[in-house]
Amino acid sequence: MHITMIGGGYVGLVSGACLAAFGASVTIIENDPSRLDCLLKGEIPIFEPGLKDLITTQQQAKRLAFSQDLPAALRKSQAVFIAVGTPTRRGSGHADLSYIYTAARTIAQNAVHDLLVVTKSTVPVGTGQQVAEILRATRPDITFHIASNPEFLREGNAIADFMHPDRVIIGLENSTSPSRALLEKLYAPLTTPENKLIFMGLESAELAKYAANAFLAMKVTFINEMSDLCEATGGNIADVTKAMGLDPRISPHFLQPGPGYGGSCFPKDTQALATTARHAGAPTQLIETTIAANNARKHRLAERILHLAGEQITSCTIAVLGLTFKANTDDMREAPALTILPLLHEAGATLRVYDPQGMAGAQALLPANITYCSTPLLATKQADILLILTEWPEFMDLTPQQLEGSMKGRLIIDYRALWADRTWEDTNFTYHTVGNYSASPACATQPK
Ligand code: UGA
Repeated sequence: MHITMIGGGYVGLVSGACLAAFGASVTIIENDPSRLDCLLKGEIPIFEPGLKDLITTQQQAKRLAFSQDLPAALRKSQAVFIAVGTPTRRGSGHADLSYIYTAARTIAQNAVHDLLVVTKSTVPVGTGQQVAEILRATRPDITFHIASNPEFLREGNAIADFMHPDRVIIGLENSTSPSRALLEKLYAPLTTPENKLIFMGLESAELAKYAANAFLAMKVTFINEMSDLCEATGGNIADVTKAMGLDPRISPHFLQPGPGYGGSCFPKDTQALATTARHAGAPTQLIETTIAANNARKHRLAERILHLAGEQITSCTIAVLGLTFKANTDDMREAPALTILPLLHEAGATLRVYDPQGMAGAQALLPANITYCSTPLLATKQADILLILTEWPEFMDLTPQQLEGSMKGRLIIDYRALWADRTWEDTNFTYHTVGNYSASPACATQPK
């Protein structure tokens, strides 16, 4: 089966390569000439573990190709997936759907036979119907079947998430749609032994994606608030989340406090869902509050650093480990670093930073005259304060002894609680983290 994937961005590349691995023959259409050029040369424009190897293997097996030629790809395809960006529209919380509608119009203009058109991008409820209207109004001579197949990939874990998903959500216009059989064939490896495909209406599929992301964003925000409460009252967030997570209705996942959620999805999708809900006359107060609380958290955590540094902030060198919104990605979008570092810089601090993948992206987004260092230890050189913003595993290798030799000051602020399990009493360091991890460990009761 041949399919066309419109968009060689994050979702398009991962989905295209994985569907090829499932057996389909896939052409990824990329309109940006420099990005296409890069893909044709075998370079992958994003950092995603395993993606380069997967793409190479699928290209060698002749199941995956990159092109700009949509008409040629459509001629041989039974299905076309739309995987273009849906950024937040400037000045409103709405998702900008112009790329989606342009893709729909281009598909209609170039279609030569009946087609299944699948939206893979995250789109607000009702978009699938609009895509259907554009396609049918432009080409009444062709039968278009419409599906919504939202993606639940996590950056850094995308290949495994696609290959071994919790579920594959597919929204169809009606239960008798012939697209069902085609999609079952495309996702054949996920139908046995356990069938991961869940079919529903278009609107439900579109909403399910936003609801899942908004719920997870809310969960992270909730645990950040509990973490603050632990700090204020003497509780220990590790004990609290352990107790909560053992309840299967809650689950232990997404209970890690940090500097606030970021990335290309949670901030954008919570905004879009809240805006859609307001316009639909069913406002989502929880999501509105989640957005406000998450934004406020990034500012509050910056103020906390300024408070800890005190009046010396203007002569203070802060070493920052981690810039990306989470580990295992080069993605800087909505990273807490983008709020926190400019505030520290504005207050007069000197910043020395290190991130394994995010430094190139960060340079365009952060104030000038920040020093970018080639190793974590180099960033800590002569620093008064060490600040951890991303939970990169390699930061675990730094020892207090190394830091003692490198840093001038003795304050560590760890907003990912990466080193919360270490004993700091034997060192000269003051260790400050979120959630009061060091509180009363001796009181922990073991079950008899
Ligand atoms: C998220 C969803 O998890 C995916 O299911 C979804 O497909 C994707 O968005 C998308 O819509 O494309 P992603 O943005 O890659 O994936 O990142 P997550 O791993 O979900 O993390 C989001 C943010 O929450 C990060 O800033 C992370 O540091 C933060 N987080 C997560 C915490 O602070 N604590 C946690 O316990 C978990």
